[in-house]
Amino acid sequence: MRTWVKAGAGVIGAALLLAAGAGGALLWAGNQSLSKDHGALPETVAGGPGDAALGARLVSVYGCNGCHGAALAGQDFYGMVASNLRRRAREWSREDFARAVRNGLRPDGTSISWAMPTEMFAAMADNEIAAIHAHLRRLPAAGDAQPVTLKHRFFKAYHAATGELIPNAVLVRATDAGPAVAPEPGTAGWGAYFTRMACAECHNHGLGGFGSDTPALADAIQIYDWPAFVRLTTTGRPPDGRELRLMTGVGRERLAHMTDAERRALFDYLKSLSQP
Ligand code: HEC
Ligand code: HEC
Repeated sequence: MRTWVKAGAGVIGAALLLAAGAGGALLWAGNQSLSKDHGALPETVAGGPGDAALGARLVSVYGCNGCHGAALAGQDFYGMVASNLRRRAREWSREDFARAVRNGLRPDGTSISWAMPTEMFAAMADNEIAAIHAHLRRLPAAGDAQPVTLKHRFFKAYHAATGELIPNAVLVRATDAGPAVAPEPGTAGWGAYFTRMACAECHNHGLGGFGSDTPALADAIQIYDWPAFVRLTTTGRPPDGRELRLMTGVGRERLAHMTDAERRALFDYLKSLSQP
């Protein structure tokens, strides 16, 4: 009896050791992938220091504060930490900051992962990235509102090991390079530029939508006239007044910060997409 118990305990112990070993190997692989040096590409940001007032508006319109926290001091984002941007902007030069947002690379060459929509921001204009950097630096220094815990580290390592957490460095293409200065609302190129920054994250590149999650914008815009569009992009309410699952928040928190010129140009651009 005793020997049987001992043998049983031995088997269980061995199984536990094996499981721990496999788990350890997985986490090790995940950490290897997360700490891989992709080589920090040289990055230049044309123009002088950014326009902080423009940056203050862009962190809302482009949704930085939705994921990084209203105070931009960090926030839990589905088990990961969307970092304290006030801190990063102080630690990182304008070029370092631009490389992180547009190329997905930190100064040490490690890649920021897929939860951060680098693919969309890869084409951000120099004047806009400089503006965001200037705005963040103008805010008072703030400690991490969401420190990185062991749980966050495990989560990241696990999902990196299973391949779900794609390094952004591999997603960005050379052809993504943005302009020195963002186009003016209403000029050629503005609509494609602005919607990539502000809508593509959820409505897909080309604005064709993501299946049943988000509509193609060329279709969705058809029921909108100008007053209804103003309402959607300030209060988040569609023509029938319903509260939409996600878009109501986007309208109220993000698009309400567009300028009138941007709102009008966006409406005209979306309408032009639905012309046959
Ligand atoms: C959909 C959510 C989301 C949005 C929108 C978003 N971020 Fe992020 N961002 C994240 C997450 C999550 C991380 C951390 C990813 C990781 O740890 O690999 C991150 C990482 C970063 C980093 C790297 C910080 C570091 O410590 O490594 C910078 C810089 C950054 N974001 C800037 C921005 C800016 C600027 C904007 C707006 C233009 C923005 N982010 C919009 C989710 C988001
Ligand atoms: C964070 C994700 C997100 C972003 C960013 C976003 N949308 Fe949406 N949008 C949605 C979702 C999700 C829906 C479907 C309704 C819902 O579930 O909220 C939607 C629905 C819509 C609709 C249809 C609303 C209706 O009448 O039912 C329009 C029009 C629209 N979005 C326009 C835009 C435009 C224009 C932008 C960029 C300026 C944008 N959205 C950015 C998530 C987003």
